[in-house]
Amino acid sequence: MNSQPIPPPPRAEETHVPLEALGLRKHFLSGDGSELRILQGVDLRIGAGEVVAIVGASGVGKSTLLHLLGALDRPTQGDVFVGGTSLFEMDQEARAEVRNRHVGFVFQFHHLLRDFSALENVAFPCRIGGVPEGQALDRARALLEAVGVGNRKDHLPTQLSGGEQQRVAVARALANDPLVLLADEPSGNLDEATSRELHELLFGLREEKGTSMVLVTHNLDLADQADRILELRDGVLHNDVNGGTSEGPEEEGEKLGE
Ligand SMILES: Nc1ncnc2c1ncn2[C@@H]1O[C@H](COP(=O)(O)OP(=O)(O)OP(=O)(O)O)[C@@H](O)[C@H]1O
Ligand SMILES: [Mg+2]
Repeated sequence: MNSQPIPPPPRAEETHVPLEALGLRKHFLSGDGSELRILQGVDLRIGAGEVVAIVGASGVGKSTLLHLLGALDRPTQGDVFVGGTSLFEMDQEARAEVRNRHVGFVFQFHHLLRDFSALENVAFPCRIGGVPEGQALDRARALLEAVGVGNRKDHLPTQLSGGEQQRVAVARALANDPLVLLADEPSGNLDEATSRELHELLFGLREEKGTSMVLVTHNLDLADQADRILELRDGVLHNDVNGGTSEGPEEEGEKLGE
């Protein structure tokens, strides 16, 4: 008889789920002092190399959710785990470090530092992470080449087109080779051809690096390329993006492309 002890089931931190949200609620106070319950219990698990698109009407809470996933804001209730580690149980400094090291963020409005060149903007997260300046600049140069704006590296954001700024923002989000890329309307302000190029860039990245992604988008072309499309509606995520019979909140085990 085999007397080997049966190993215990893996704990969350051993399963290396890149990103997981459990029971996320976010309430805001509106102008008249009443409570706005924007997120009402969001559960989400993103597998390694998985790309999930989140869609939903304007004002439903998509940016709010993405900000919580990237620890740019605190939930009213619930928690987010990056690589199995709870973000909201750790102190602020540790949280900032995990965010800088493991999460890349592309904002709805790109948020590049206006007084710094494209190259300096992209090198910034590496510098914060303690990478020596020369190495950080080398990496930034390579990333700008990879996203097709190497020839604009010394331009300030105001000297770049909208599409170029968005590419620089993507390069910056990739500076530390994140586990997860969170992108809020990455092609929201771009024309069709430039959007398509940016989408190819994002999916090329997933192929090459296995980066997991959560993409908030109104762009059907982008959403259709994702492994799963979830709709944020009434404060929770739904799988049934086309309406129909709602099965309620997003559940594990319904991933496409697996
Ligand atoms: N700090 C805040 N205080 C009060 N209300 C807020 C705050 N931030 C967001 N809201 C409200 O929460 C709701 C969700 O906002 P959010 O920006 O997440 O929407 P969204 O789904 O990203 O919309 P869009 O598609 O237009 O970008 C909105 O009604 C907004 O007014
Ligand atoms: Mg938004």
